[in-house]
Amino acid sequence: MSSLVRLNSALDWIDIDDKLADIGCDHGYLADLAFKKGVSFVQLIDNKEGPLNVAKKNLYEYLDKTNAKFTLASGLLELDSRVNVVAILGMGGELIANILEEGKHQASNVNKYILEANTKVPLLRKYLFDNEFEIISEKIVKENNKYYELILCKKDSKLIQYNELDLEFGPILRKEKSSLFVEKWTDVYNKYQNIIKKSDVTPDKLVAYCKMIEEIL
Ligand SMILES: C[S@@+](CC[C@H](N)C(=O)[O-])C[C@H]1O[C@@H](n2cnc3c(N)ncnc32)[C@H](O)[C@@H]1O
Repeated sequence: MSSLVRLNSALDWIDIDDKLADIGCDHGYLADLAFKKGVSFVQLIDNKEGPLNVAKKNLYEYLDKTNAKFTLASGLLELDSRVNVVAILGMGGELIANILEEGKHQASNVNKYILEANTKVPLLRKYLFDNEFEIISEKIVKENNKYYELILCKKDSKLIQYNELDLEFGPILRKEKSSLFVEKWTDVYNKYQNIIKKSDVTPDKLVAYCKMIEEIL
C-alpha cells in the first residue's frame, strides 16, 4: 500500500466515533485504515466508477461486518447525513476548493475537514480563510522524497485575518517551524538561488519569493 505516511497522518485526526466520508476515495486505503482503527462508518465517494470498484475489491473483507457505503458522485453532493468528518486528499488545491464550494449546502453536519492538496496549496488556504473555515492544525510529512501538507479545519462563522505568509507557508506550520518544514523550505530556497545565480536577467519574482522564505526560516 502506497502513501502510508500521508494517509496515517490524516488518520491521526480521525476519532473512532467519527463518521467519515473520503471524497476521491480511489483505492479505498484511507477507509481501510479507518476501519482497522475502529471507525464504524465510512462513506467512500468517487466520481469515477473504476476507482470505486477497486475500493470495493480492496475492502471486500469488511463489507459484511462494517458500514462501508460506496457512492458514485461528485464531491459532497451525495454526502450521507451521518457524516461528521470529511477527508479530501491527494487532489489539486483548486479542485478541493471547488468541491467545498459546490457542496457547502450538503455539509451541515460536518464538524471536521481533513484536506491535503498536492498543488496550489496557497489557493486552497485562501479559499478556506475567505469562507470562514478555521484552520485548527497543520502537518507536514515526507514520503518518497515528496513533502505533503495536511490541513485540519472546521467551518466557522467569524472573519479570519491572514497575510501572504499564512497563505504561502501555512499559519500554523510557519509558527511551529518543524524540522521538516525548515528542510522543505531550505530545499526550495536553495533551488531558487541556483536558478537566480544562473540567470542573465534577474528573475524578480524568484528574488521576492526567496525574501519571503528568508522571513519565515
Ligand atoms: C489522486 S486520487 C487520490 C486518492 C486518495 N484520496 C489519496 O489521497 O491517496 C484522486 C481521486 O479523486 C477522484 N476525484 C476527482 N475529482 C472528484 C470529484 N469531484 N468528486 C469525487 N472524486 C473525485 C478521482 O477519480 C481519483 O480517484
